[in-house]
Amino acid sequence: MKKIVAGNWKMNKTSAEATSLVQALDQFHSPDQKLDVLLFPPSLYLQTLNAELKIDSALHLGAQNCSEHLSGAYTGEISLLMLQSIGIQWILIGHSERRIYYGENKDVVAQKVKTALNQNINYILCIGETLTEREQGQFEEIIKQQLNSAFQNPAEINRVYLAYEPVWAIGTGKTASLTEIEQAHTFIKNYCKTQFKWLPEQVHVLYGGSCNEKNALEILSTKHVDGVLVGGASLQFDSFKTIIQAARSCINN
Ligand code: PGA
Repeated sequence: MKKIVAGNWKMNKTSAEATSLVQALDQFHSPDQKLDVLLFPPSLYLQTLNAELKIDSALHLGAQNCSEHLSGAYTGEISLLMLQSIGIQWILIGHSERRIYYGENKDVVAQKVKTALNQNINYILCIGETLTEREQGQFEEIIKQQLNSAFQNPAEINRVYLAYEPVWAIGTGKTASLTEIEQAHTFIKNYCKTQFKWLPEQVHVLYGGSCNEKNALEILSTKHVDGVLVGGASLQFDSFKTIIQAARSCINN
């Protein structure tokens, strides 16, 4: 299966810094049928950055969030229609920082998934448990609930991108162990198959949570890991370049 390396810049970088990082990555990364490189900069810069890309660029830009509505009186929000109108084809949905800091509940996440499906835009749905939930042995239950609530009409879905991001590993420098990652990804893929009847090749599961240039190769080589969603280590060219190279070497082995 294709590998995906995605960088989530969160609320970082000035416009000039964003432009220079995108330009450097665009020079470095050439088209590869087995690897997608996605960048999620702040939405404010998307249109400018999209215009900066080479004509034959192999980078894909996406937004870190969007409204669950397509238009209307929703002050401060950005809709999928707007993103699509400037050529954006990817969106992150339900990142734990949105769920925790902005009160994005399961109904809002479900509505965003529905809107993304209706609009035919590629989305990565973020799921994952907190430390307390893991310690209380609720990991599987939480993942099932997050998937069940997000996908209301699974039969109508033909391609699914998920990011398994244990909340306790995000921005903490504490990565899940390879065994924990393999177990989680195996569980997610099996659940998608039995519960939603999705074929294995329809379901892509990325790992996220303190993935960096040092651990990317082993994470990307772990069974059932189809890619990585990288926060902190996507902010510097050298570290993100090393992660892309790690993905390339996994594909070629
Ligand atoms: P991190 O963030 O790599 O900085 O832990 C990952 C994410 O939040 O997607």
